[in-house]
Amino acid sequence: MTKRLNNKRVLLGVSAGIAAYKTPDLVRKLAAQGAEVRVVMSKNSEQFVTPLALQAVSGHEVHHYAMTADSESGMGHIDLARWADIVLIAPGTANMIARLVIGSADELLTTVCVATEAPIAIAPAMNQQMWQNAATNENMQTLRDRGLLVLGPDSGEQACGEVGPGRMLQPEEIASRLGDHFLNGSLSGQSVMITAGPTWEALDPVRGITNHSSGLMGYAIAQAAAEAGASVTLVSGPTNLSKPEHCQAIDVVSALDMHDAVMSSIEEQDIFIAVAAVADYRPSTNADKKIKKDNEEMTISMVKNPDILADVAALAKRPFCVGFAAETNDVVEYATAKLRRKNLDLIAANHVGGSETGFGTADNAITLISKNSVRELPKANKYALARDLVEAISNEMKK
Ligand code: C5P
Repeated sequence: MTKRLNNKRVLLGVSAGIAAYKTPDLVRKLAAQGAEVRVVMSKNSEQFVTPLALQAVSGHEVHHYAMTADSESGMGHIDLARWADIVLIAPGTANMIARLVIGSADELLTTVCVATEAPIAIAPAMNQQMWQNAATNENMQTLRDRGLLVLGPDSGEQACGEVGPGRMLQPEEIASRLGDHFLNGSLSGQSVMITAGPTWEALDPVRGITNHSSGLMGYAIAQAAAEAGASVTLVSGPTNLSKPEHCQAIDVVSALDMHDAVMSSIEEQDIFIAVAAVADYRPSTNADKKIKKDNEEMTISMVKNPDILADVAALAKRPFCVGFAAETNDVVEYATAKLRRKNLDLIAANHVGGSETGFGTADNAITLISKNSVRELPKANKYALARDLVEAISNEMKK
């Protein structure tokens, strides 16, 4: 099953309506779509569902309505507001809707809604007369105009015995519609492996041959792929960067280590993006003791490293293969030749050598070349460029 909420953090705000009894099931349906769920309960919602039930299904302590010194010292309202990729209010009562309209910050849940930059979705749930009430109607219009995502309500038999519009959507439907919200141009449900950084080819226990790759581009692509819903494995050479969230990271040192790490789980991958600046050669011997400066001259004999990307692309059951080509001149010509030689689906040619793009710089520009197209991704910071690249890969795979 494609998990459309993979890597997404959903903050579920439960307000005080009878449909709150369905929220433990909602938490489970959201989790089944890959979401990480935390729950904030409004003051009176505890009359309809217990915090313990929601804690048990979400696997996290439930946040109560009160903003006490104790609650604020853990994950306080600002942390919760920042944590969420989306705030989902379900059930959304007439009272909660009215409080959202006026920007009330009278308890934890409403305060988080005012404090968050994340989108807010609401699944209204109330008696059909309350739903059709003029004030509720106008309030809902205000929320829609502000861009809130409105899920439902459904129409049918209600808990109060009446029949009409106002019933909360079923948990499965809410989870599915929330997934639709994140689906655009994404890599949801795809497994992606990315190599990044330099490699270190040891000469002796303290010396080695490496290069200036910072790893930034590969890490940015890993983050963008995770944000687009992919399950990401990042195989990284030595860098100073902290690992992007939601990625499985495998640290390696040499080209041979990287080759082993990639090959051991490449069969599970749908996409392979080779961003690492892998050393082409390694010293033929790795001395087990520090080499002494006894001689006037020293010669280092080197042997060729395996080409990880070419080996992956040559597999009988191969993922969609994306390579990088750092070129100083004749960029399209050299990169196209590399695409053919290594049997790739896509190659991202970097313009290196100038001072403004390429190794160690924040900005980059890419020419994206497939077997039958050439496209420019203009100069941007590496995170913006990574998002463009991820979108381009997902579009190319649909062709
Ligand atoms: O042949 P060249 O080194 O220019 O190719 C660059 C591309 O191939 C990059 O995507 C790089 O990550 C990958 N590569 C590799 N293993 C090597 C050398 C390069 O995966 N040994």
